[in-house]
Amino acid sequence: MVSEIRLFVEQEFHQKAQQYSAVLSSRGVKVNLEIIEKLNARFLRFHPDLALCVDESGLWLCANGMKMQPDWKAEVPRLKRSSLKSEMIARACNLGEKPSLIDATAGLGHDSLLMAHLGADVSLVERHPILFTLLEDTKNHAETDPFLSSVIARIHLVFSDSADYLIQQAEQNKIVDVVYLDPMFPQRDQNQQAIKKQAQVKKQMQLLHMLLPEDGEMDLGDNLLILAQKVAKRVVVKRPRLAVYLADQQPNHQWQGDACRFDAYFQQHLVE
Ligand SMILES: C[S@@+](CC[C@H](N)C(=O)[O-])C[C@H]1O[C@@H](n2cnc3c(N)ncnc32)[C@H](O)[C@@H]1O
Repeated sequence: MVSEIRLFVEQEFHQKAQQYSAVLSSRGVKVNLEIIEKLNARFLRFHPDLALCVDESGLWLCANGMKMQPDWKAEVPRLKRSSLKSEMIARACNLGEKPSLIDATAGLGHDSLLMAHLGADVSLVERHPILFTLLEDTKNHAETDPFLSSVIARIHLVFSDSADYLIQQAEQNKIVDVVYLDPMFPQRDQNQQAIKKQAQVKKQMQLLHMLLPEDGEMDLGDNLLILAQKVAKRVVVKRPRLAVYLADQQPNHQWQGDACRFDAYFQQHLVE
């Protein structure tokens, strides 16, 4: 995981950058702050390595000549689609019941945004310090959006390894309706490499791929399923369509789509 990173900023936003830098350092990331003259396309092209930058829109990851942020506002048109309630994720997580839900693999938070929009009360857990800080910034910005603000009120960010968080929940006898898991999966990475070659991959996904470990060192999250089953009436795992089961555990029910599927594990003894 990245533990030291450069942060580029123009003088005007220096103070803001220092605040991000302090937050990141409290989360174990050493930030080397550099004041630059102009943060523009030319500068980014000449500094293609992974770094952070700060401007009037907040904190960004930059690499390969691009700036990237998780962008919840860009998800609004999707959230406004009326067919949303029939999406597989809505059925798999029983969102019609407005469940309490832990999303133990936050990533860019897109799935959680949708689930919170459909009524779930979401604890969104991410362990990557830079990704978490970007998410936090995105959430703060989304709070000022008239459409998103009520959705955001149902999302609580947690900076933690989910294994620790789920153990803590179990120790405190806290039961939730759903734990949602979408861990990285190597085959999907290969898919995305192929997509990248077609130059169609969204900037958003590139962000995840730049920050997260490569195949081989990737943590596939098998341990999370067993821990989640201790605290959730229902565990839902998002998988590429043909992927093996998480932790080799056969689910009680599946929802199959073209690109992905949702495996559900029910804990009858936790249902009152
Ligand atoms: C495939 S992404 C999830 C994408 C997400 N569903 C979305 O809609 O953007 C997986 C994320 O889970 C995070 N993650 C994996 N294992 C974790 C763990 N044990 N604790 C916390 N976060 C974890 C990774 O850092 C990564 O950001």
